[in-house]
Amino acid sequence: MAYYRSVGDVPRTRHTAFRDETGQLRYEELMGEEGFSSDSSLLYHRGVPSAIVDSQVWELPDLSTTPNHPIKPRHLKLHEVPAGGDPVTGRRLVLGNGDVRISYVVTDAPSAYYRNAVGDECVYVEDGSGTVETSFGVLTYRAGDYVVIPRATTHRWLPSDVDGELSRLYAIEANSHISPPKRYLSRFGQLLEHAPYCERDLFGPEEPLVEDGTDVEVLVKHRGNGPSGLVGTRLTYATHPLDVVGWDGCLYPYTFNVEDFMPITGKVHQPPPVHQVFEGTNFVVCNFCPRKVDYHEQSIPVPYYHSNVDSDEVMFYVGGDYEARKGSGIDLGSISLHPGGYAHGPQPSAIEASIGVEYFDELAVMVDTFRPLELGEAGRAVEDPAYAWTWAGRGPSTGGSDPGSDGDAPAVFSNS
Ligand SMILES: [Fe+2]
Repeated sequence: MAYYRSVGDVPRTRHTAFRDETGQLRYEELMGEEGFSSDSSLLYHRGVPSAIVDSQVWELPDLSTTPNHPIKPRHLKLHEVPAGGDPVTGRRLVLGNGDVRISYVVTDAPSAYYRNAVGDECVYVEDGSGTVETSFGVLTYRAGDYVVIPRATTHRWLPSDVDGELSRLYAIEANSHISPPKRYLSRFGQLLEHAPYCERDLFGPEEPLVEDGTDVEVLVKHRGNGPSGLVGTRLTYATHPLDVVGWDGCLYPYTFNVEDFMPITGKVHQPPPVHQVFEGTNFVVCNFCPRKVDYHEQSIPVPYYHSNVDSDEVMFYVGGDYEARKGSGIDLGSISLHPGGYAHGPQPSAIEASIGVEYFDELAVMVDTFRPLELGEAGRAVEDPAYAWTWAGRGPSTGGSDPGSDGDAPAVFSNS
């Protein structure tokens, strides 16, 4: 995130001696992207940031995937994923490919200290609240937040445990960086006037977090030869890794709440790029927020059928009412996967019903990927097998042509 922030104590001149009150030197760490050629921050540690005393294997959760083959649209009911685990090791893989993994976890348990050395994470908070302690300081989170954590940031999640509240976390893990779309930015990185949000809407740490401790474990997800090219290591640090007394720069974790996204609307239907919020390599993140819709007297506010010839589309329905999905079985907590090579759009009855509608009460988070997505173990476990046939109103007969998933699924359709 390319705008400057300074938190805590930093020396007047970078790369010069910076001592505590006893004369002890602070240890300066540059955390930078793209080989010293992109955004970076300078962090000042009390301890030596490279001092480890042990390294053990951390067995990652099940990251196996199954191709969407034979191809069809999918409906995954995330609210059927049972609560359990913690916000990091409890994540269950829903969808993934070589660029991005989407996982889901419902939890009130704190996580271990954790660092994703593979890519940035963007965790959408469907529900719940709490804090994320990072080496840059503390973030608070609440429903509707995207919690964006740069690659290799040491942190841990602390869901609120008040009144039995659970955090429902939709984790978008990239193998790349995640940032505002380039077209929203000036050539120097400022969010432009036409962007649907601005720097005031991004909330980073406000003060340093300095913890004491020795022999502190950090779970590190990194590149290797495991499923999806990932493996895990449990590093033990001689001194507490969250010991930064100050930092400054343009690289740090932050939150952005979906209610601060200002929807762009038009006289006729506006395409998904106006709803974009972030981008990573080979994928984008969009959100469809409550908004006034098209004002042409004959406009059809729900989408036209569209064939995303270059991408798979994942919608996560997190709030409101879904005009475009009536008759599909889609409800709050649902995911729809509409793969490339397949034209999709509203259930037919929704088109006529939408004419004249002036407001959509919907909230959905969309991830579009250029490479095909495969189903993770949680995705396979919570699939609604009838979804693919809801446009036609009928599917394969018993024992039909889709033995991989739902050949004997009951033919129950709410579409009319
Ligand atoms: Fe779509």
